[in-house]
Amino acid sequence: MSSQITIALSKGRILKDTLPLLKAAGIELTEDPGQSRKLIIPTTHPDVNLLIVRASDVPTYVEYGAADVGVAGKDVLLEHGSTELYEPLDLNIARCKLMTAGKVGAPEPGERIRVATKFVNVAKQYYASIGRQADIIKLYGSMELAPLVGLADIIIDVVDTGNTLRANGLEPRDLIRTISSRLVVNKASMKVKHDAVSQLIAQMSHAVQETR
Ligand code: ATP
Ligand code: PRP
Ligand code: MG
Repeated sequence: MSSQITIALSKGRILKDTLPLLKAAGIELTEDPGQSRKLIIPTTHPDVNLLIVRASDVPTYVEYGAADVGVAGKDVLLEHGSTELYEPLDLNIARCKLMTAGKVGAPEPGERIRVATKFVNVAKQYYASIGRQADIIKLYGSMELAPLVGLADIIIDVVDTGNTLRANGLEPRDLIRTISSRLVVNKASMKVKHDAVSQLIAQMSHAVQETR
C-alpha cells in the first residue's frame, strides 16, 4: 500500500470482529479504542488510520470520502439506502436477523399497525412490499420497550439469541432479512487509491475465507 487509507469502524462488536481481519491485512491498532478517548487511531501500518464513529454513521463517512473504507451492518446500509457506496465484501461478522416482534400471544392488530423502530426506511419498504398500512414511529434504541407501554404494536429490530425479546415478554414474528457486516468503499477511493484498496479487500477476503 502506498496511498493513505482511512477506515471507519464502530466500537463494540464490529470493532472486535474486524480486528482479526485487519490483522490478516497487516493492520494492528496502536491504541485500544475501548480505553482511549481518541477518535482517530493510528495503526502499525504507516499508511492506515482508523476512525471510530457511531455504527449508523459509517456509511455517511464513507459516502462523503471522509473515510475510504468502512465496516457496517447490512441493516445500517439498507436504512442509509445509498447507491453511492461499493459493497465488495461480506465479512460474515455481527450476524443477526432483522425481524418484526410483538408481545407474546398478542393478536395481530387490525387494519393499521403501529411499528416502532430505528429502521424507519426499512420498515416503510417492508410494509409497502407486503401491502400493509403501517404508522412508523422512530426510536433511537430500547425498541423492545415500545409494545410493553402501548407505544407500538410491533417493533422492528435485529435479533440474535432472542434473549432481549424473551426478557421483555416479546416474541419474534416475521423475518425481514438476515444480516451481516459488510466492507464498504468510497467510489472515488476505489479508483484513485485502487491498488491500496484492492490489496486491503483481497487480504480481508482471504481472512474471511479462512474463518468460514
Ligand atoms: P449504537 O450503539 O451506536 O446505537 P448499534 O447498536 O447499531 O449502534 P452495535 O450494537 O455495535 O451498534 O451493532 C452494530 C451492528 O452489529 C448492527 O448494525 C447489526 O448489523 C449488528 N448487530 C447488532 N446487534 C447484534 C446482536 N445482538 N448480535 C449480532 N449482531 C448484532
Ligand atoms: C442488540 C439489539 C437487540 C439485541 C438482540 O442490542 O438492538 O436489543 O442486540 O440480541 P439478542 O437477540 O441476542 O438479545 P445491543 O446488544 O447491541 O445493545 P444496544 O441496545 O446497546 O444496541
Ligand atoms: Mg446495538
